[in-house]
Amino acid sequence: MKGIILAGGAGSRLFPLTLVASKQLQPVYDKPMVYYPLTTLIENGVREFCLISTPHDLPRFHQLLGDGKQWGISIEYREQAKPAGIAQAFLIAESFVGNDSVTLVLGDNIFYGSDTFRSAFTGFTSGATIFGYHVNDPERYGVVEFDSEGRAISIEEKPKTAKSNYAVPGLYIYDNSVLEITRNLKPSPRGELEITDVNVEYMKRGALRVHRLSRGFAWLDAGTSSSLHDASSYVQTIEKRQGIKIGCPEEAAFRSGFLSQPQIETLIAKMPNCEYRDSLTRAVEEIVRHKS
Ligand code: TTP
Repeated sequence: MKGIILAGGAGSRLFPLTLVASKQLQPVYDKPMVYYPLTTLIENGVREFCLISTPHDLPRFHQLLGDGKQWGISIEYREQAKPAGIAQAFLIAESFVGNDSVTLVLGDNIFYGSDTFRSAFTGFTSGATIFGYHVNDPERYGVVEFDSEGRAISIEEKPKTAKSNYAVPGLYIYDNSVLEITRNLKPSPRGELEITDVNVEYMKRGALRVHRLSRGFAWLDAGTSSSLHDASSYVQTIEKRQGIKIGCPEEAAFRSGFLSQPQIETLIAKMPNCEYRDSLTRAVEEIVRHKS
């Protein structure tokens, strides 16, 4: 399965932070925001990536993440000239996706906890898999409504009055027909190719699965100053309490078998003395101990 990280957009709600660095390059506690969604996909076995961002910001992402080889993955880069909608990612990355299935994650979405994603990824064969997460303010998102048997019966983008409290987080898994569906999409009244319209089309075809994320699962989007601050505090709280790192691509690559022990040790040896290095060293030792 291919992986697209969509990390463009205007980031206007974070002005003036985003005058110099894009939203997804901002720190969330101790690492750049884009590390978190990237790590989520690596943890779930995705190895080939295409990162999409604005022409202005793309060189910085390249500087940060390189070609991915250091983590045993590959990363290609494509431009989105204007923020013309999340679904446009599939048109931009069409040749990258080829005949494969594809997962799309938004560069400002942070996930933590439970194994829901793992089973969704390993169990994926065809159609579309998206998620539903109970939130206080569903009107800000795509909102999914369920019938009494838990089947999704409607999805609406930023409705005035939400039919449920279940928002659709920015991680989606599709089979290859997403390319054909996106090619036939018309822009919405706000001029965007809407990801919600892609999901509605899968629903019409009877090919949409919606996994409800459990209460213990954290989904944070870091698009406003306040939610960026909350996300940082959340990560700090978990990391301090548990003595682990969230959103560490090196560790995820090692766990997923993309890096061998000598490879990750070489990578660590090149890092400056810092908390990130110490924590990664401890994590690797622990993984090795549990394996043996
Ligand atoms: P938003 O948070 O909805 O938009 P934004 O990032 O432009 O921020 P603002 O509203 O403050 O101006 O976008 C959600 C995510 O999707 C974010 O990571 C940016 C990304 N995105 C794109 O990369 N291209 C697009 O065309 C759109 C609509 C979003």
